[in-house]
Amino acid sequence: MKYENKTVWITGASSGIGKATAQEFAKEGATLILSSRNKESLQALRNELPNPNNVFVLPLDLAKSEDMQSKVDEALRMVSKIDVVVHSGGISQRSLAIDTSMEVNRHVMEIDYFGTIALTLAVLPHFVKNQSGQFVVITSLMGVFSSPMRSGYCGAKHALHGYFDALRAEHQKDNITVTIVCPGFIRTNISKNAMIGTGEKQGTMDEATGAGMSAEACARKLVQGTSKQKAEIYIGGKEILAVYIKRFFPSLLRRMITKVKVT
Ligand SMILES: NC(=O)c1ccc[n+]([C@@H]2O[C@H](COP(=O)([O-])OP(=O)(O)OC[C@H]3O[C@@H](n4cnc5c(N)ncnc54)[C@H](OP(=O)(O)O)[C@@H]3O)[C@@H](O)[C@H]2O)c1
Repeated sequence: MKYENKTVWITGASSGIGKATAQEFAKEGATLILSSRNKESLQALRNELPNPNNVFVLPLDLAKSEDMQSKVDEALRMVSKIDVVVHSGGISQRSLAIDTSMEVNRHVMEIDYFGTIALTLAVLPHFVKNQSGQFVVITSLMGVFSSPMRSGYCGAKHALHGYFDALRAEHQKDNITVTIVCPGFIRTNISKNAMIGTGEKQGTMDEATGAGMSAEACARKLVQGTSKQKAEIYIGGKEILAVYIKRFFPSLLRRMITKVKVT
């Protein structure tokens, strides 16, 4: 029980990777705060976890950055200390850049980037005061390299790497760590919930996502990497190879990415 007496706050806990991560941390004895917009799904998850008395539900909308300070105040009335914040809440996009409105680009950025850093900034003074804390930021392999049909999403996820690499360097002295988690294809509702260029939901499962790793297997690797305080972890199948191709043969990856069949 690695996380007994630790509190882990998870956004995006109503579905997919965030939900599986909550289940995995619960097995390790953590006290949990579950967040996303859908209060009913969070309550349902709370009731199925082994120790619901150690689980708090705190609905929030990442599109409302201005609410994040009051959400942290609320969290600190539920628990006396927050040890880990897992940022799993997010939305994707599936459309060519030329077909994607500015509103969609801004909305993805608002949720995936600004919402995430607003919550981080609201928690940070608590971590500094405690001289401990860990931010676990779920970006994507799309935060390391980019592929077609996801320009706005890739932009938001790359931005998270830029932000959190700086934050890590600034607060190492305060014993605050940052683990950036980059999943590849994980079988969740991400592509169904993704926005197309007009802002509507795509509503369908991408082939590669449907054939991807289970959210449960992803969560196990995430919790393992988190407990080892890794700086960056890649989770998925052979798509991870692209990280190394970009690092060592960048022009080869550029050629591959233009030819690959993307959904
Ligand atoms: N699945 C993959 O292949 C994959 C790959 C790379 C990265 N990721 C990343 O993994 C994270 C989790 O995604 P997933 O795959 O688990 O997808 P998912 O099943 O669609 O879950 C997304 C979660 O984000 C929450 N969310 C969406 N908009 C929100 C908002 N405005 N405010 C608060 N919460 C919001 C959703 O809850 P509510 O609807 O209840 O708000 C849901 O819990 C995302 O950051 C995603 O970019 C996923």
